[in-house]
This record gives sequence, structure tokens and C-alpha cells, in this order.
Amino acid sequence: MGLAILKLGGSVVTFKNKPLSLNKNAIKRISKSLCDVNTPLIIVHGGGSFGHYYSKKYDMHTKPARYDIHGVSVVKSSMVELNSYIVKIMVKNKLNPYSVSPSSLVYGTKSSKNNIDELEQFATNSLIPVTYGDVLHYTGRSYYILSGDVLMTILAKELKPDVVIFTMNVDGVYRDMKNKEIVREIHNMKQIKIDDIPIDVTGGINRKIKEAFKISRMGIDVLMVNGLKPDRIITGLNNKKVKGTIIRGVNK
Ligand code: IPE
Repeated sequence: MGLAILKLGGSVVTFKNKPLSLNKNAIKRISKSLCDVNTPLIIVHGGGSFGHYYSKKYDMHTKPARYDIHGVSVVKSSMVELNSYIVKIMVKNKLNPYSVSPSSLVYGTKSSKNNIDELEQFATNSLIPVTYGDVLHYTGRSYYILSGDVLMTILAKELKPDVVIFTMNVDGVYRDMKNKEIVREIHNMKQIKIDDIPIDVTGGINRKIKEAFKISRMGIDVLMVNGLKPDRIITGLNNKKVKGTIIRGVNK
């Protein structure tokens, strides 16, 4: 099995409705499950109640702009803090994470090829590069929020992984919010009704599905599974049929 890229959503690694609250137990359980995985792996995590909390507070968005410079500092610091918690829990549970700042992978909005390629080398050396959604410098005095979901697309484009998995705190993508039926396979956006979901600064589930479609158009299968049920991540990494939503890879 080749390379896998896994997104740990903010709704998995934090409690999204309580500012600055880490879901230690979820990170610990995922770490323990990943111990048995031999697939070269890269992890991207979201901001949840860390990055999103401060991005909202300082009115910062994905659009590059001259945001409050203290806000830039505070958002960055909250993401470094969250990343450090996650990496520490992973180490404690015998994984070999290697923290990578997104600013080394993306310059402005352009991907830094060499540094991204290096992630794959780390992964084949049994390290797990762990990077994250973040606030990045655009140009001059402007900054922007880079969603971890967009970072997934950037990494997939350069590294062409065998499998891409997005995790969230529900079992998959709902057809609509009322009866919460999981869509097993998404072919197009018309199958789902998601406009009634309150969105966070990077666009919530809408953004995730949009990025998942972009990745699927590179010929890569994209899975969306419940990260609070780590066995599903493992099943997905082993390329076996798993409960969740799939967007199948199509070659253009
Ligand atoms: C957000 O990353 C990063 C910041 C707000 C700084 P994501 O958009 O990937 O976060 P989640 O997974 O939705 O929480």
C-alpha cells in the first residue's frame, strides 16, 4: 500500500462548541489505533475550537486581507499549541510524529514542492508528518486562513497518495440535516442539502466536500469517516469497505 493522507477534523481533535478544549481521549484512541498501521502516512489536523475560535474573534477568513496583526499572532499561537498537544499525545502512545509548520509547505498560496516531497520521505521512514490548517502570509501586509481541507488538496496534488481520508465527528455526509441519513457515495453536490449547516470560518462541510471532489478528480478515492470511531480510519487505510461516505476517484 502506498501513501495515505489523513485529515483529523477540528470536530475530532477538539470539542468545537467549547473554546480551547482538546478532545484528548479521541486523539489518544486514534494514536493507539494508528500504531498497527504500516502504510506511510501524513496527517493534517484542523483548527476546531482553537484556530476557529480566534479566527472568528479577530474576524479573519480564507480571503487574504490586512487582518489585525495581533489576531494573526494569536491564531498562529493557538494552532502551534493545538499541534503540540496532538503530537505529544501521539509520542506518548508510541507513534513517531514529526511536526511540520504549514508555512514551510505553502509560500503565499503556492505550494513549496521540495518541502512537500520531503513529507513523503519522512512517511516512508516511518515518521508521521503532522501539519495543520493555519494563518499564512499572503503578500505584503496581508494574511489568510489556510483550511486544513485545502492543504489536503495541495498535498494530494503533489504527492498523489493512494488514499485520502477526512475524519469528522459524525458517520459520514448527511443527505439532509433532518433525518441524518448518510450518503454512502457522492457523485455530485445535488445529492445533498447542506445549506442549513452553520458554517465556520473555512466553510465547514461544504469546503470539505469541495476539496474531496478536487482530490477525486486526481483519480484518488476520498473517504469521509467518523474519526471518533478509529477502527473506521484503520479499515479505510487498509482499503477495505468502511462505513462512511466515499467520493470515488475519477480520471479526467
Ligand atoms: C482551520 O483549519 C485553521 C484555522 C482556523 C486557523 P480547518 O478548516 O482544517 O479546521 P477544521 O477541521 O474545520 O476545524
